[in-house]
Amino acid sequence: MSRQLISASRITIRHANGFVALEDFSLQVEEGEFVGIVGPSGCGKTTFLDAVAGLIPVASGELLFNGHAVKGVVPGEVGYLFQKDSLLPWRTAYGNVCAALELKGVPKAEWPARANEVLHKVGLGRFTDRYPSQLSGGMRRRVQLAVLLAFDPPVILMDEPFGALDAQTRTIIEDDFLRLWGENRKTVLFVTHDLEEAICMCDRVVILTAHPGTVKEVLHVPLPRPRTVDEAKFADGFQPTLRTLSTSLRAEVGRTLAL
Ligand SMILES: Nc1ncnc2c1ncn2[C@@H]1O[C@H](COP(=O)(O)OP(=O)(O)OP(=O)(O)O)[C@@H](O)[C@H]1O
Ligand SMILES: [Mg+2]
Repeated sequence: MSRQLISASRITIRHANGFVALEDFSLQVEEGEFVGIVGPSGCGKTTFLDAVAGLIPVASGELLFNGHAVKGVVPGEVGYLFQKDSLLPWRTAYGNVCAALELKGVPKAEWPARANEVLHKVGLGRFTDRYPSQLSGGMRRRVQLAVLLAFDPPVILMDEPFGALDAQTRTIIEDDFLRLWGENRKTVLFVTHDLEEAICMCDRVVILTAHPGTVKEVLHVPLPRPRTVDEAKFADGFQPTLRTLSTSLRAEVGRTLAL
């Protein structure tokens, strides 16, 4: 039986300057779910991921992780793929993965085998000794995925993870991530501005309102798994879901621009 891993009940989040970013926001996520979050720029998507990661406290309401109130960062609990590169520039791809293994408390003797295994899985077996500056944008994202795999957290937070990539690289890396995710079905919160990507990747897509963000609507993605991006885009349920999502979101983006 699946259990609730993340539960936000009517939370409000204020930034340090008092600015209310999210208001009366509720969302329940079950273990193993792949949940997309879309919404107008500035509506509070990143703020929500930050709160789940324990980087920012909730001002009111209740935010539970695995049944316990989130009170700060708990190492090992969530893996966070930030929008911008978060690799250590002075460490090679291999070194970056080892940093995650060290943080996780994996015995040093196991690092070489584990690091090489995850780098191989993301297709970087031949580039383990490259520094981030010697890798392309797509390859750096792959190293970050390898770091996540090494870290192996129960929850993965992804903030526009593939937004900066060209369309072809992006489809390949999305397919890779879908395949890797299918191997152990971690819980994923996936923020994106790309509605097609949201449908291809996710089980459900949460649409947020214009700022201050709250949940406007949750759409179930009626597509079978396992799936690739192309299979998803040509499946029967894809276009109707895209139309519903797009109409719902456009209204909120319109409200944001009118503010
Ligand atoms: N550190 C901060 N201090 C004060 N206000 C902030 C801070 N970070 C974000 N905000 C504000 O909180 C609101 C939500 O920001 P957030 O970054 O969560 O939006 P977002 O939905 O992720 O937007 P985008 O799609 O552009 O990434 C915005 O109005 C933003 O200006
Ligand atoms: Mg953001």
